[in-house]
Amino acid sequence: MENFDKKAIDAKLAQGFPLEHRWHNRFHLEMPFGLINDPNGLTYHNGAYHIFYQWNPLGCEHKNKCWAHVKTRDFIHYTMPELSLWPDDVHDKDGCYSGCGVSEEGELRVLYTCNRKEDGVRIPAQRFGTLQTDGSVRKDEIIIPDHPEKITGHFRDPFLFTRHGRRYLIIGAQREEDEKGTALIYEEVAEKWKNLGEIHTRLGDFGYMWECPNLLQFGSYDVMIFCPQGLSARAYDRQNIYQAGYIAGHLSLDSMDMMQHTKFQELDRGFDFYAPQVFEHEGRHLLIGWMGMPDKDEDYPSKEQGWMYSLTMPRELRLRQGHIYSRPARELRDLRVKESATQLEASSVSSLRQPLFGGSEILLELELGEAKILSCVLHYGLEKLVFSYDREQQTMTIDREGMKKGGRGKRVFKLFVDQKLSLQLFVDKAAVEVFFQHGEEVASLLVFPEKNIQPELEVRSDSPLKAIMGTVWELDSYKYQLNS
Ligand code: FRU
Repeated sequence: MENFDKKAIDAKLAQGFPLEHRWHNRFHLEMPFGLINDPNGLTYHNGAYHIFYQWNPLGCEHKNKCWAHVKTRDFIHYTMPELSLWPDDVHDKDGCYSGCGVSEEGELRVLYTCNRKEDGVRIPAQRFGTLQTDGSVRKDEIIIPDHPEKITGHFRDPFLFTRHGRRYLIIGAQREEDEKGTALIYEEVAEKWKNLGEIHTRLGDFGYMWECPNLLQFGSYDVMIFCPQGLSARAYDRQNIYQAGYIAGHLSLDSMDMMQHTKFQELDRGFDFYAPQVFEHEGRHLLIGWMGMPDKDEDYPSKEQGWMYSLTMPRELRLRQGHIYSRPARELRDLRVKESATQLEASSVSSLRQPLFGGSEILLELELGEAKILSCVLHYGLEKLVFSYDREQQTMTIDREGMKKGGRGKRVFKLFVDQKLSLQLFVDKAAVEVFFQHGEEVASLLVFPEKNIQPELEVRSDSPLKAIMGTVWELDSYKYQLNS
């Protein structure tokens, strides 16, 4: 086990800000060094949103898993990231894995998986902790010391939820019998946690492991978000190595059935999205995802610079007819630099070019007219990232083949457009997040342009578009303040 010196690591972090390298994003959380992954412990507590996330402060490998922490009231001003939880005892010596948070009796408590391996055998324990005023998490009681019977050592990522005043956990797991993915539910009874068994769905054989479950409530619907591993790619979905998606239905905590649930739907169609977690606060569901993908480190050349991965911007979720719509959190509108607003307006054109800023937001309404194929291209000099819509096939294709460095390939998904295609693009230095048709679909991805040039947006179509309407803004950067 490595020795983690919080003071020294925090000092090095503070020196790393503002982030300087040309691939470092401006309005996406990331670190000046080390590898980050899953958002953890998302909690609204004492007037602020707390965001923890997995972090290896010692290198760009998936090991030494710690939790980093930032706090924000508006998703624009953040406290300086700091080291909050790290492996330092026998239970979590092989990593402080993912988990959740809860505001309880004036304290912020986290619940995480202690990862421990003995002779190659995993002994996962679920343990509470409490955030201290110095920013570290005090390690408290272990509530589940090992995996239960009939479940393998792949048992992790607890998420706490409440129903009718009672507290439950959902935990990602793998069944021993057939080595398939599943999730277990626990109920708190007289200060102990009782295993209620597996949640029953109609998904059947659905991968070999489910990571990072969240159990949410939208009105009378229950939504289980989870990350199944081991599904094969299909023509219009599941095209990443691992998925992040959900089913919506009605969960009975008596029978453990997820009743009348929808099919599995992906939360994001991009290349770089995994392990999301959701805050539920004042009726809002705010999601933050990891912009990265396990087992694909070779796709991310920022490794050569000593850091890897980002988190998505927070997005607000809504459930309509069994489908989740995502919108950027409204707070992010304050990133817009007012004077920079540029209106786009054209009719009967089949091409339009618009230079962008170092960080931009673009709202576009495209009236298709007779056009059958339409593309939005981000040009980075000779490199390009293309979003193209095929009206006959009703497919959107994201094409990274025109980029030289980093992951390439294509992602294709179904999107129904009648007359108007609506897009909202957030183009950061490397991170791109696009909301399609007012959030019916979203795509998060990273590009690593070779040259430090501002991208240019091009809209083009096979025959003239009836109308192009839109606005482009320069976006300001997130601000980090020293912790007081
Ligand atoms: C998902 C995941 C979790 C685990 C964590 C470790 O990306 O594999 O299941 O808790 O990352 O960093």
